[in-house]
Amino acid sequence: MTRVAILISGGGSNMVALAQSMTGDHPARPVLVMSNDPAARGLTRAAEMGIPTDAVDHRDFKGDRAAFEAALLDPLLRAETDVLCLAGFMRILTPEFTRRFEGRMLNIHPSLLPKYPGLHTHQRALDAGDTEAGCTVHEVTAELDAGPLLGQARVPVLPGDDAGTLAARVLVQEHLLYPAVLRRFVEGERAPLIL
Ligand code: GRF
Repeated sequence: MTRVAILISGGGSNMVALAQSMTGDHPARPVLVMSNDPAARGLTRAAEMGIPTDAVDHRDFKGDRAAFEAALLDPLLRAETDVLCLAGFMRILTPEFTRRFEGRMLNIHPSLLPKYPGLHTHQRALDAGDTEAGCTVHEVTAELDAGPLLGQARVPVLPGDDAGTLAARVLVQEHLLYPAVLRRFVEGERAPLIL
């Protein structure tokens, strides 16, 4: 059984979708949900689902990224993590950390990468007048939002959309894409899934 840990920073809706998908004949199970914010609502949701949780407050490390990541790594190793999923995790991880999980670390990003790496993806798509937007699941490498593509889902940009309405439409697809990509990944499939 593949042991999956999930890193979150906020509500954790993607974490919930991933955790709910790992049942029955699914070859993976969630073993830990961890956040850089002890108050992240997703921690409560994970606990309600019976998943072990932990938190390492990045503010306790005052910019000492290496120390923060060492504290983050400990629970992951204790949980014997096989695959690490970033799901709404808002801290940038150093190459040293990502190298520890090279080839078994995934992230979901709310744009059609390589368009709009980084933040404020929906507003940037609107400002550019794009007629479509979406989300991408990719392997995490040292370069931000740039690892091998594992899946993408597209949505239309509709007249009258603002960043909020577009984000909500994309989020629905995120909750379909990420679980589907995780299962394929655990089963050894690396060809991108295009929904
Ligand atoms: C989502 O837009 C996701 O793409 C981004 O963080 C946002 C919130 O995700 N990574 P969640 O509800 O905390 O999973």
